[in-house]
Amino acid sequence: MRHAVIMAGGSGTRLWPLSRAQRPKQLLDVVHDADGGAHSLLVEAFTRLAAVLPAEQIWVCTAARYGEQVRAALPELGADRLVLEPVARDTANAVGLTAALVADVDPDAELAVVSADHVIRPVERFAAVLETAYRALAARPDALVTLGIPPASPATGFGYVQRGAATEVAGVAEAASFREKPDRATAEAYVADGGYLWNSGMFVWRARTVLDALADHLPESAEGLARIVAAPAGPERERVLGQVFPTLPKISVDYAVLEPAAAEPGRVLVADLDVDWLDVGSWPALAHTLETDGAGNAVRGPSVLVDASGNVVFNDDPDHLVALVGVHDSVVVHTADVTMVCPVSDAERVKQLLAVVEERY
Ligand code: GDD
Ligand code: MG
Repeated sequence: MRHAVIMAGGSGTRLWPLSRAQRPKQLLDVVHDADGGAHSLLVEAFTRLAAVLPAEQIWVCTAARYGEQVRAALPELGADRLVLEPVARDTANAVGLTAALVADVDPDAELAVVSADHVIRPVERFAAVLETAYRALAARPDALVTLGIPPASPATGFGYVQRGAATEVAGVAEAASFREKPDRATAEAYVADGGYLWNSGMFVWRARTVLDALADHLPESAEGLARIVAAPAGPERERVLGQVFPTLPKISVDYAVLEPAAAEPGRVLVADLDVDWLDVGSWPALAHTLETDGAGNAVRGPSVLVDASGNVVFNDDPDHLVALVGVHDSVVVHTADVTMVCPVSDAERVKQLLAVVEERY
């Protein structure tokens, strides 16, 4: 049977000070609705999947500390479909834990893995490509299928998949190689080459296949996960999870599974995801979800801008006014307890800033 899991355990540090350890970006209402309201990236991801799969086949994997907020945000989510990690050990283990639990209830499960931090339009096209990816899996049951996006720039924060030979399913090719977060020069060469796609961080595979791939490439994780799922569901499994999960090697599924598996010919496939796609990872990316004025300022919340252009202004405090004059290409974020300002070009460094703030406060 088809299942899907939303990976929702990231902490979204580059969207500080809006995104906080206790309330990370996927739970914040940052996606603008046509009627003036807003909803979260998690709700966006769930709604996108719910158009394709019944709610009981949708799982969410997140950190235990976000469990209650996730339940409140997703009332349709099944009681036994929320997978809670005691600590974050990155996506190799989040995917592995979910795959092991899904395989425990449905040994032949086909599992789509999606991120919680994407805005995708049109949603119907996403649904069609997901269907294509599941079909590719029916033709090649042991494949690891990734959804690939035409690269818009030589971004170094993404993985790159090289399109190889065509498969029997239209829109799906074999991946000739996979490289996670290359350096700038390599990314530029990939984009110039034209034969590479961005890895969307969304995958379709059988739960068993990804567990086998973990056994091949990250045996420590595979063994730990097997021990967790061998324990009877309930308090005993919780106990083993709490004991074993924190000891698993912290690594993403892209580095741990996709890179090495792509070296085996025909093991990794790539489905073309030809959509408008936004990874809402940083302030300039989030600005794309906001209203923009005539001078290219993306603005949310009470503010006055005079002779200002290219700014991202996010004021989360309705009782506070943010006022700018003669300011260009800057990010200004105001929350109840923190104001953060940086040039747009330094927006990736917010992570670095947060590390210093955490040291001192
Ligand atoms: N449950 C859980 N546990 N989820 C996690 C964890 C974890 O420990 N760490 C990250 N996630 C979730 C995030 O919330 C996000 O939805 C998704 O997994 C991807 O994690 P990111 O940390 O955002 O990954 P990335 O953006 O650096 O890279 C991935 O996505 C890119 C596209 O957005 C990779 O797959 C890249 O190859 C890809 O290009
Ligand atoms: Mg991301």
